[in-house]
Amino acid sequence: MSVQIKPRILLTQTLPEVAQKRIESFDDIELIHWKDNVIPHSELLKLVKGVDGLICMITNKIDEEVIETAGDQLKVVSTMSVGYDHVSIPALKSRSIPLGYTPDVLTDAVADLAVLLVLTAARRLREGISAVYNGDWKVWCPTWLLGCQLTDKTIGIIGLGRIGLGTAKRLKPFLGSNGRIIYAGRTMKKEAEEVDAKKVEFDVLIKEADVVIISCSLTEETRGMFDYGVFKKMKNSVILVNIARGSVINQPDLVRALSENRLGAVALDVTTPEPLSPDDPLLKFKNVTVMPHLGSATVEARTAMANIAIDNLLAGIKGEKLPYRVEL
Ligand code: DGY
Repeated sequence: MSVQIKPRILLTQTLPEVAQKRIESFDDIELIHWKDNVIPHSELLKLVKGVDGLICMITNKIDEEVIETAGDQLKVVSTMSVGYDHVSIPALKSRSIPLGYTPDVLTDAVADLAVLLVLTAARRLREGISAVYNGDWKVWCPTWLLGCQLTDKTIGIIGLGRIGLGTAKRLKPFLGSNGRIIYAGRTMKKEAEEVDAKKVEFDVLIKEADVVIISCSLTEETRGMFDYGVFKKMKNSVILVNIARGSVINQPDLVRALSENRLGAVALDVTTPEPLSPDDPLLKFKNVTVMPHLGSATVEARTAMANIAIDNLLAGIKGEKLPYRVEL
């Protein structure tokens, strides 16, 4: 009698409830579940040995060592994220291991957050809320905490992909008839027409935009793209929002530009590192708002992401086509 060996799966964090129950309900897989928050790399290297499939998060560095340590039986890596800069593509490619990811289902959540950050920065929300809670709200005053409105402004989007486009669609009604949307980088021409967005050179965008929204992928080309030289060219009233990856911005340069009052307001959902230390110099500026990478943090988006990550994993261990596969 032959004993059926179940495929072993490593899950590096706990999924939203419905999806966690789903993955635990499969009795034809052996689930290794790291229940704490972030698995230390040394533990990841221990647990990944001998697995057939891996469900990972943006908090796990899936480098060559992890892929090699897993062993020859590894059939699929499934990340519960749309971004995959934490995964070594060359390591997967060299062994033809497919990589699953979770696009589309988080677009609305992240685009909503982008709008929230633009308005937060524009209307000085953080300062207003702090004043109420710190007892600094003395009297209504015609000149206190004046922000700016988006009417007639130029919005510049770096990376008009799914999320950039979702953000543009949401912001367009705020702009009135004289506002405009310009973009640089990744192009979806047909969709750009939907929001009447005009493609411009990066240099033109950073000089002309009143609001700059970073929504591109982190690649070797975009890493550190926003540096002191770029900050110097921006309007000094500019609102800068980053919903992509912290490393697209050279953070020490951002701190320098802010110290020199070169930027109007900054709102970041992503930083380097994450989490950012409470002592980080970035947090001392009152015109800076930092969120703890919550772009996709809705029950709807995270549940859908987790379910896609499971679907990708199941397809991968069976040797089938992944529903959402990164082109390696
Ligand atoms: C992603 O999916 O890449 C986001 O950054 C986290 O949801």
